[in-house]
Amino acid sequence: MAKARVVNIVGARPNLMKMAPIMWEMKKDTSLIEPILVHTGQHYDEKLSDIFFRQLDIPPPDFYLNAGSADHARQTARIMICLEQLFKKLQPDVVLVVGDVNSTLAAALVAAKMNIPIAHVEAGLRSFDRTMPEEINRVVTDSLARYLFVTEASGVENLRAEGVRTFLNDAEPVENVSYDLFDDVEDSTDAGLLKRFGAFVGNVMIDTLLAFKDRSEKQAEIDVPQRDYALLTLHRPGNVDCPKTLQRITQALARVASEIPVIFPCHPRTRKRLEQLNMTGSYRIADKRSFLPLIDNCITLLEPLGYLEFLKLMSHARLVLTDSGGIQEETTILSVPCLTLRDDTERPITLTEGTNTLVGTDSQTIVSQVKTTLKRRTGKFLRPVLWDGRAAERIVRILEFVACRTELLTKPIGERL
Ligand code: UD1
Repeated sequence: MAKARVVNIVGARPNLMKMAPIMWEMKKDTSLIEPILVHTGQHYDEKLSDIFFRQLDIPPPDFYLNAGSADHARQTARIMICLEQLFKKLQPDVVLVVGDVNSTLAAALVAAKMNIPIAHVEAGLRSFDRTMPEEINRVVTDSLARYLFVTEASGVENLRAEGVRTFLNDAEPVENVSYDLFDDVEDSTDAGLLKRFGAFVGNVMIDTLLAFKDRSEKQAEIDVPQRDYALLTLHRPGNVDCPKTLQRITQALARVASEIPVIFPCHPRTRKRLEQLNMTGSYRIADKRSFLPLIDNCITLLEPLGYLEFLKLMSHARLVLTDSGGIQEETTILSVPCLTLRDDTERPITLTEGTNTLVGTDSQTIVSQVKTTLKRRTGKFLRPVLWDGRAAERIVRILEFVACRTELLTKPIGERL
């Protein structure tokens, strides 16, 4: 029997920990899917890309597009031009995209115009802040996608509000995948897209975390400080590209460091901005092997870390300060308090059932929330439903069902020019 050719797209660092468990599942002998992995090259540094392939056992990409860094339009366009040629050659049955980066959007736009069904993993998340490039990417990708894989209940609500009517299991979490789940899909024509459906399947990023938690303790090439520390990440354009905001945040962080030493693996975008503003002088710059012991009143700046190293540091942190999306979810599973340096989040489950608190970018608020958190003992938190390490398995089983019922695809499997 011909297998369904699923072309999986990655481009930036946060795509890699989401794609890893999907690739493991698709590569199993029993899978009815022929996976092809395409790396757009949006992130190209060893520390933002290659190390994740090695550490997470992701097979090398079948195609690498070399898109590189550029303004949004140029970067997205470059990826689109390359992908159009590639999709003509490969004739995918499904294009699978993850998350909300420019590579996600570019692949969705190309696939939609070529009438190739799109599967979007991490569908339905909304910050409702359209100044974030990721929010634009999410909204557009979801509006084009045929199969919408959702991580948390808010995603179902948001997609419903945007016109998705058909959900497997009637919008309840899909714990186990079976044939009868697809009955409603037969005659669905949601938002003009034939046979479109959503499925609440859990969180692939947490699949990866659970798979690597023990390994990170043993194999991470980093020593965890024997004292309390805060772990910091910062890279959102809204926080680092505006000098005033960046200055406000760094002033707050200097005060945070007088309460607890801060370790800061720094994204290249942020490093560049700090250097442009001559602000790295106030940091202690260290190599990951030599950053110990931590010094009082000090922010220790490191190069971006590998997955295992970051996971180990995050697991043992007294608290995390971040503007990342995925880290809000990971800290929730690790029961580590997370203070998010943003006014909103597209992952509200981390606020209601997790360890996350939104603290915005006001200096006073950041410092007082850090003090409050340090006084509090960390408790046990709820684990969001289906964040159980099996999300990728559900996604791949669903795609296999789709592949077996060719009427759910645009054309029969294997019918390539
Ligand atoms: C991208 C994603 C963001 C994600 C982040 C994780 C978009 C719109 N944004 O943001 O959602 O959270 O990745 O890291 O897709 N650079 C390097 N080396 C690289 C890649 C980039 O030094 O390998 C530097 C370049 O100076 C580049 C800047 O980082 O201009 C920004 O890179 P870009 O891919 O545009 O966005 P990120 O900020 O990384």
